[in-house]
Amino acid sequence: MNLKFSGHTALVAGAGGGMGLQIARDLLCKGIHVCMADIKPQPENIPNGPGKSVYVQTDLACKTQTDELVSVALAEFGRIDYLVNTLGVLWFGKDKSVVDIDLEVWDEVMNINLRSIVLLAKAAVPEILKCGGGAMVHFSSIDALSGDPVPQDAYGASKAALIRLSKSMAIQFAKNNLRSNVILPGPTLTPMQQRWQDRPDVQSEIGATIPLGRLGSTQDMSDACLFLLSDHASWITGTELVVDGGITALP
Ligand SMILES: NC(=O)c1ccc[n+]([C@@H]2O[C@H](COP(=O)([O-])OP(=O)(O)OC[C@H]3O[C@@H](n4cnc5c(N)ncnc54)[C@H](O)[C@@H]3O)[C@@H](O)[C@H]2O)c1
Repeated sequence: MNLKFSGHTALVAGAGGGMGLQIARDLLCKGIHVCMADIKPQPENIPNGPGKSVYVQTDLACKTQTDELVSVALAEFGRIDYLVNTLGVLWFGKDKSVVDIDLEVWDEVMNINLRSIVLLAKAAVPEILKCGGGAMVHFSSIDALSGDPVPQDAYGASKAALIRLSKSMAIQFAKNNLRSNVILPGPTLTPMQQRWQDRPDVQSEIGATIPLGRLGSTQDMSDACLFLLSDHASWITGTELVVDGGITALP
């Protein structure tokens, strides 16, 4: 589908990661200017356009830095139409059952996965409203929907809270033409899942348990995200798009 976008500029949080970088690249290729933000240094393979980009290395769990980021986006491009929140952490080994987890780890995961979204909304939403509205897409996880025998309770709880927060923002700002939706990815090959990177055997093993027969790709997630940002989704707000190859439809 040749997607149409009324907006001109996007802020992509987590743009140094697997999904965020793919989304930023795809938006740039569609001619949208992108302010890319991540705690990681700038990746090498950012396309030269047709959209313009600026990359900000920043800690988005920190309010002064999210405020500064939005100032940079406005200074570079004069407006913000789209906010994409892909940043997040999943800490294998440290994030565990609620009865065993170190409370500092719990707080840190909540700060990065949830409070950062609050900080970004506080700074960016008023600017999107000044532009007459736009769209937000937040990345949760299918992990938000069910319990797990190998629990990562801070991650799951933060991702579940994100769904509710998005619905609330969708209702608050619908009258201002600002949409808010959530993508729930299934297992996807990105730096977050580094443990599978050089393990084609494990990738096939997991793929075989997924109805559509493979792990997700960053392109699968970017395609879903760009659709939700685009004008083709202009009557979609406050909802969740599960992109998981059919995992959650299994009995
Ligand atoms: N990969 C998967 O299997 C999977 C599955 C379900 C949901 N998700 C979710 O999708 C989103 C994108 O994940 P991904 O797979 O691309 O992971 P990723 O690790 O490649 O990208 C996440 C990015 O967030 C950045 N980040 C973390 N803390 C930050 C901070 N304080 N400030 C700024 N940036 C920070 C990281 O540096 C990283 O580049 C995440 O929210 C993740 O929880 C991923």
